[in-house]
Amino acid sequence: MNGYLGESDFTMVEEGFTARDLLENLLVELCQTSDQGTYFMADLGDIVKKHLRFLKALPRVTTYFPVKCNSSGGVVRLLAELGAGFACASKAEIAQVRSIGVPADKIFYCNPCKQVAHIKYAASHGVQLMTFDNEVELSKVARSHPHARMLLGIAADFSPSACPSVKFGATLTYCRHLLEKAKEQAVEVVGISFHLGSHCLDPQAFSQSVAEAQLAFEMGTELGYQMHILDIGGGFPGPEDTRARFEEIAAAINSALDLYFPEGCGVEVVARPGRYYVTSAFTFAASVTAKEEVPPGQPGSEGRWDAQLYDANALLPCDRSISPVQKPCPDHPSYSSSLRGPPGHAEDRIADGLELPELQVGDWLIFEDMGAYTITTSSLLGGCPQPQITYAMSRVAWEAVQLFQGKPPQAEEDRESLCTPLSCGWEIAETLCVPPVFTPTGII
Ligand SMILES: Cc1ncc(COP(=O)(O)O)c(C=O)c1O
Repeated sequence: MNGYLGESDFTMVEEGFTARDLLENLLVELCQTSDQGTYFMADLGDIVKKHLRFLKALPRVTTYFPVKCNSSGGVVRLLAELGAGFACASKAEIAQVRSIGVPADKIFYCNPCKQVAHIKYAASHGVQLMTFDNEVELSKVARSHPHARMLLGIAADFSPSACPSVKFGATLTYCRHLLEKAKEQAVEVVGISFHLGSHCLDPQAFSQSVAEAQLAFEMGTELGYQMHILDIGGGFPGPEDTRARFEEIAAAINSALDLYFPEGCGVEVVARPGRYYVTSAFTFAASVTAKEEVPPGQPGSEGRWDAQLYDANALLPCDRSISPVQKPCPDHPSYSSSLRGPPGHAEDRIADGLELPELQVGDWLIFEDMGAYTITTSSLLGGCPQPQITYAMSRVAWEAVQLFQGKPPQAEEDRESLCTPLSCGWEIAETLCVPPVFTPTGII
């Protein structure tokens, strides 16, 4: 074991529970004793499963998790335990991962606009790998970090992803100029990087970017660089129902790598998957603090309810699967409902036009797929406390973490008396390419 995560960092759970079941149980318990209106339940086993799935689908690619996507302690510790690296966007993120003992060579400082003070901080803490895509960034690094190992970011704007990366990356024509400038300033350029933008679902966009990266590598070679790192960025889909698409993307990347960076060519391939790792692992609950009936006849309403949720609006994207804790009951009609965050926020709209039963103050709503870009600073929450996060993992997932570290699993009889999977099943053993060491009775 690497020692980043221990059994005291999470609750070991029984088989057959989903994160939603655990959250519902927790709400029953905590509602009596706590006045908090929001909770997260994090299934760390889900992240273990995603990691193993990634390694299986993209065996040549090592991962650096972007801390900005979810900086919660349990996630960072688990990924460190699994041997992932970290893509940090700031001094604070570098400090966070360094504080738990992650070595500098597992940290990639990859903000396209870096503060000089943060570059110096990276330099003084031995963090060398970073990106640049323009002359200003290059000069800042040349002046402040003599040992930096730079990746040149190329534009990947042809991606039709949900949030295209229009802001960053140099065109191929500009790349040559930047590489020449880097030579003049004696900056070591060790590879090429691209990021297709978040939630990219187009396998072709990845293949095309790998092809472009190869052209940039050729340019580097012509200029005398020994480039040996290709960074294919993030953007891999995160919800469980996009698994097939992830595998399609992985197949396209593998083919492109075989063609443009064949095995044995000396190029190490890295990626920065954020939402892929954490989206489906987190389930969120928020309580209703106020409600208002919008009478029929009022503009835009048809007997509609507005419900206001406790400190949730800074977190909640509008496209999540939302459901009340209460089970739907055929006797209870549903109403077109809107959800709002607390007053005082400019952007308080969470969702409109949801068909929900009539909610009461104190009712809980459950939101699934809430792990990416939802753990935010309390300033963004307008002074409301950060929701409490409870981490859970099944015994089988925990064993997989240990197995992954080369530690033998416990004896059969020990395992039987202990807890069983939350979300990891056959596929972990299958992924690890070892005979199954447990008998799951269900896979969620
Ligand atoms: C530079 C960079 N790399 C990686 C990521 C991770 O993206 P995702 O969470 O979609 O994988 C982001 C997200 O915004 C990013 O800006």
